[in-house]
Amino acid sequence: MAQLNLVVLLLAVPWLFTGAIVVVDGQHYTAYMPYCSNTDNYTMASAYQVNLVSLMSDLPQGAINNRGFYSSMAGEAPDQVFGLTMCYVDRNWTQCQDCVRAAAAGVQQTCPFSREMEACYDACVLRYSNVSFLSVADPTTALYMILRSSVVSDAPSMVAARQKLMSQLAAGAAAAESSPQLLGLANGSVGYTDSLGGQQVIYGLAQCTRDLNASECTRCLMKTISDLSSTFPNDTYGAVKAYSCYVVYSVGGNFLSISIPPPAPSPPPAPSPPPETTVSPAPTTSRNKKALLAGVLVASSLVSIIGIGTLVWFLQRQRHTRNALQKEQELYMFNEEPQVLDMLNDELFQGNVPRRFKYSELAFATRDFNDKEKLSEGGFGSVYRGYLKGMNLHVAIKRVSKSSWQGKKEYESEV
Ligand SMILES: *[C@@H]1O[C@H](CO)[C@@H](O)[C@H](O)[C@H]1NC(C)=O
Ligand SMILES: *[C@@H]1O[C@H](CO)[C@@H](O)[C@H](O)[C@H]1NC(C)=O
Ligand SMILES: *[C@@H]1O[C@H](CO)[C@@H](O)[C@H](O)[C@H]1NC(C)=O
Ligand SMILES: *[C@@H]1O[C@H](CO)[C@@H](O)[C@H](O)[C@H]1NC(C)=O
Ligand SMILES: *[C@@H]1O[C@H](CO)[C@@H](O)[C@H](O)[C@H]1NC(C)=O
Ligand SMILES: *[C@@H]1O[C@H](CO)[C@@H](O)[C@H](O)[C@H]1NC(C)=O
Repeated sequence: MAQLNLVVLLLAVPWLFTGAIVVVDGQHYTAYMPYCSNTDNYTMASAYQVNLVSLMSDLPQGAINNRGFYSSMAGEAPDQVFGLTMCYVDRNWTQCQDCVRAAAAGVQQTCPFSREMEACYDACVLRYSNVSFLSVADPTTALYMILRSSVVSDAPSMVAARQKLMSQLAAGAAAAESSPQLLGLANGSVGYTDSLGGQQVIYGLAQCTRDLNASECTRCLMKTISDLSSTFPNDTYGAVKAYSCYVVYSVGGNFLSISIPPPAPSPPPAPSPPPETTVSPAPTTSRNKKALLAGVLVASSLVSIIGIGTLVWFLQRQRHTRNALQKEQELYMFNEEPQVLDMLNDELFQGNVPRRFKYSELAFATRDFNDKEKLSEGGFGSVYRGYLKGMNLHVAIKRVSKSSWQGKKEYESEV
């Protein structure tokens, strides 16, 4: 049986890498290439820091009470701080809550003394600023995610179906912005017949932060969908995270389990609490659970059969080029299958083309994942120091442990 062996590589100086990792309750949450402002920093015990801390203590519970999205502000000008956080609905509600808590608790680890921060995590996004940014989309792409070893046989049919699906979803997500119950998102699927006569289904999700109106949501999604098209010519899965919106698709849907955040917990006990309160969220939850379980079952069996790897990488932020430190950051995940890998879309990366690495190259760089090179140990695996000779580059390499996938199996047997 193919061994699942995911590896993440971050091309960055190690201190910067560790700086982007938030450690909460011994769990590591990676802020993928955060944007941290680096001028006009606030100082220790300043009014700005006090306001920031106060805002960050409100955001997580606000988001948990508000179905995975919350925006707020604290203090008065010139020390006023604005912030928002949102969960991605292709992660479950537990992951969402953990993410918003960790992201908020970790802002001072992620961007010490910055007046502005934008960061995408696996399950959520968090932004704060001294300038009000609410209601204006930031379509800057922060992160791409791809499943390695996984391309479709008939790319033109897939691309056509994906385009159709994504424009439907973009319209749906924008329309949902005007209806609070719809959470600024749309998910769905379309079927297509590939050139071999096979019936395929492509699943997708488009999601905007809920501070946006329909036109701002559309503006953000158009940008991410166009990034999606140019970045994933024939992949079976692709995701683009921007700071104000998110799109993801999966051919077959195995890697896309949507779990719509539950309605707010009921308000504090009323004078005469109705006895049936505990049953209220049941219908949707059990349906979501079933959908999730189905996804998990197929996903875990597929994973064990073909040993899929995931590749993640960053696009350099174009808008904030002033932040020279972030120039070379890229992140990769992939499997150990030795393979000659193609460069992706040079144009998109403007010469800053991400490179994919063979497992053996990374094993070599870390002296076979030697314990002496270990920088940290996290919930999803260990981080190693490494040196890529060919590129004369010191790197931090994260080896994702199987346990994060085993978690799914445990979940499967629990249910
Ligand atoms: C401001 O803070 C950032 C980290 O958030 C740091 O990288 C930068 O050097 C600081 N800038 C100044 C001028 O101190
Ligand atoms: C907000 O912070 C930036 C630095 O990130 C600074 O350049 C700008 O002047 C500040 N704006 C206001 C209105 O305080
Ligand atoms: C949507 O929001 C943007 C930014 O706040 C604003 O400029 C625009 O006028 C709004 N559009 C509509 C139709 O309300
Ligand atoms: C969106 O996802 C939810 C949860 O998985 C599912 O119940 C629903 O049917 C999906 N909607 C569409 C249109 O596929
Ligand atoms: C997938 O797309 C890449 C880039 O266009 C191409 O090089 C590769 O041959 C394609 N693979 C398949 C199996 O179509
Ligand atoms: C959420 O997902 C994580 C990781 O896949 C899993 O370990 C956990 O059991 C899931 N929790 C629920 C409530 O589905």
